[in-house]
Amino acid sequence: MKGIILAGGKGTRLYPMTKVVSKQLLPIYDKPLIYYPLSVLLLASIKDVLVITTPEDIGLYKQLLGNGDSIGINLTYKVQAKPRGLAEAFILGEEFIGDDDVCLILGDNIFYGQDLTKILGNAIKNNKGATIFGYPVNKPSDFGVVEIDNDNKIISIEEKPKEPKSNFAVPGLYIYDNSVIEIAKNVIPSARGELEITSINNEYLNRKKLDIVLLGRGMAWLDTGTPTGLLNASQYVEAVQNRQGFYISCLEEIAWRRGFINTLELKKIGESLKMTDYGQYILSLVKE
Ligand code: DAU
Repeated sequence: MKGIILAGGKGTRLYPMTKVVSKQLLPIYDKPLIYYPLSVLLLASIKDVLVITTPEDIGLYKQLLGNGDSIGINLTYKVQAKPRGLAEAFILGEEFIGDDDVCLILGDNIFYGQDLTKILGNAIKNNKGATIFGYPVNKPSDFGVVEIDNDNKIISIEEKPKEPKSNFAVPGLYIYDNSVIEIAKNVIPSARGELEITSINNEYLNRKKLDIVLLGRGMAWLDTGTPTGLLNASQYVEAVQNRQGFYISCLEEIAWRRGFINTLELKKIGESLKMTDYGQYILSLVKE
């Protein structure tokens, strides 16, 4: 299973914050936004990750995350010349995906909650074509919306419908088999001129190969689409970390717990960051 993080886009809805800084580099409390989706891929034991971003920002992402060596993963990068839509990830990522299955996560999506690792592992293991997730929200019209029957079978998916058929939004986390590449190549741009991920999901639905996993109350899926959303996400991370003492999306911790790096390697990273709470947290893990 390969992983793709889509971290491009113009971030126009967050101007002037994102006029010169890529949205996924903005801080969510104590770490850049992209750490959060990357941590989800690590939790799913995905070690080969492609970061797709804009020509202007690619250098910054490389500077921030490097080739992944220090946390025992392989990170590669690809430019998306224009924000032509989420489905383009699989066209740009064709060579990277090769013959594998692929998990796509949007660079601005934050997930946190009990059993996330188990839920992801099961979804990957049980995937028979494509698997999406469903999450109840107050304002579904801002998202892809999925309608399901009493047996949790998908009836329809619509992109930002004016009249949503359910309150289940489709978060930016998707699992696909290899046919996603072929399907993406045949997607027709939508009315807003984008290659929509919803078109891909609808094709899997037509082929009767689309499954859904509903995320419940114990899971946080945080919105980072507005300044208030960003602030609330930061407050959420701060509250959990300071109350419980566990860090959310500490990449080095996850890499260590998954066995991608050993305790000595973890200690080295902790030492290099020891002037920060983040570094002290890593060093406290070493003592565990
Ligand atoms: O967050 C979940 C939602 O994400 C889904 O419910 C929707 O079905 C899906 O279309 C998407 O909707 P958004 O309107 O939130 O997508 P947005 O254009 O904001 O882009 C999401 C992320 O992907 C953001 O981090 C920027 C990046 N992006 C976006 C586009 C269109 C790219 O890297 N390239 C692109 O071409």
